[in-house]
Amino acid sequence: AQRKPLIAGNWKMNLDHLQTVAFVQKLDWTLRDAKHDGAVEIAIFPPFTDLRTAQTLIDADKIPFALGAQDLSAHDSGAYTGEVSGAFLAKLACRYVIIGHSERREYHAESDEVVAGKVQAALKHGLVPVICVGETAEDLEKFGASAVPVSQLRAALADVKPDADIVVAYEPVWAIGSGQAATPQQAQDVCAALRAVIAETLGDAAASRTRILYGGSVKSGNIAGFMREPDVDGALVGGASLVVDEFAAIARYQ
Ligand code: G3H
Repeated sequence: AQRKPLIAGNWKMNLDHLQTVAFVQKLDWTLRDAKHDGAVEIAIFPPFTDLRTAQTLIDADKIPFALGAQDLSAHDSGAYTGEVSGAFLAKLACRYVIIGHSERREYHAESDEVVAGKVQAALKHGLVPVICVGETAEDLEKFGASAVPVSQLRAALADVKPDADIVVAYEPVWAIGSGQAATPQQAQDVCAALRAVIAETLGDAAASRTRILYGGSVKSGNIAGFMREPDVDGALVGGASLVVDEFAAIARYQ
């Protein structure tokens, strides 16, 4: 494939640091037993308080999972109580950071401007932003599927340079945690529109290099259909990423 598939597990606010140990070890054993050959990149996104534990394990046991955080501060350091700097995440060997997840947009009022600022902060600290975009059920009815995700992505990429390493995740809000995934064709149509935005803003090379994930009720039973689509390069998995066997089966979708 032109782009290495990425299967990403967003744990959201689940699994404490003790549960992280058992989970990461079991996931590693499960995938190693199946002779997982590294053709697919696997990334986990635990809560902040688990990152040190996950990093230590991954490092000590040479576990082939990339690590990411679920959010970061737009600021580098200073009087921002409760915030976490991208500099700290980079020191914990995080490769990725999720930015603009719909739960942050909704419950923490993160605007397109906030998201764009966080994308800049991630890139500044050498992290790969996983930029989440997606329409609500109401948006879908009013504007169709791509209009909102396209405008969210344009805003997030405003000051991004053409050679930046980014990942985009298309997550229709109506499909998140609902059990009602988009169809592979729906995902493909929006992912293709998002790739066109990358081509227009960052150029063709960036568009062909950048991975675009689908997220929203992905499970082992529907992953293969998404992965067959030309513009879907992986998945951002929520609920199903918390069950070792299920997440392992998603990672072995072929
Ligand atoms: O970041 C992951 C998404 O919000 C999808 O969550 O797989 O539980 O629908 P879900």
